[in-house]
Amino acid sequence: MPPLNLDTAIVGSHLLTFDELDSTNTFALRHGTDGMVIVADSQTAGRGRYGRAWHSAPGLGLWFSVALEGHDAAEGLAFGAALAVREALRTGCHPEIKWPNDLLVHGKKVCGILVERRHGRTALGIGINVHHRPEDFPEPLREKAASLETATGTAWNRAEVLRAVLTHLDRQVMLLRSGKYEAVRRAWADACNLTGRRVRCGGLVGTVAGVDGRGALLLDTYRGVQRLVSGEIALVEGV
Ligand code: BTN
Repeated sequence: MPPLNLDTAIVGSHLLTFDELDSTNTFALRHGTDGMVIVADSQTAGRGRYGRAWHSAPGLGLWFSVALEGHDAAEGLAFGAALAVREALRTGCHPEIKWPNDLLVHGKKVCGILVERRHGRTALGIGINVHHRPEDFPEPLREKAASLETATGTAWNRAEVLRAVLTHLDRQVMLLRSGKYEAVRRAWADACNLTGRRVRCGGLVGTVAGVDGRGALLLDTYRGVQRLVSGEIALVEGV
């Protein structure tokens, strides 16, 4: 990884790069200091939400974590991170934020975000698929996942993407630390663009009434308004 020459206040206070780690989030939770960025070329036990494995092959993507300190460091962080990645990728595509915090390009997932907290430390983990060809993904992922290169048909540079994400992330972290949680949450909720859409989540189908102050989805169903804090949603077509 070439020097990033970051001009940031918090994010990137230290930058550690590894050829291989089990998980950059695990490293951040054990050894992270405020603003430290940990990047691994590959992860042997990369993890995603719901305890899923995150495919982290060498040379293909950006697998990194940002360690943050402070008892409320996780507040709004996933919202700010999704906005930061979306902004960073806008030089070459128009990513959508899929609730709660996946980034999709042309309907396929190019980035996942995982915020974890342990012993007072917060790890913000971000995985971005950059160079994969479809056959580089394990078979079950091929339909739903893409890399920036296959989704856009153009070349992407991992160091440039990382620099842009960290720069935008720094702004979001500063906004959150200056008490602007609500502004960040609102920008994220607007970007999710779900209000009034018909969606399915698990066995529930309903119309999205909005997103509440904690980021939960309010789904108007035949059983009344249900509050969903996480889950896998799909738009219901033709309604
Ligand atoms: C998801 O969409 O399920 C979240 C995926 C998060 C993956 C990243 S890759 C860097 C960091 N280290 C991990 O073990 N996971 C996150």
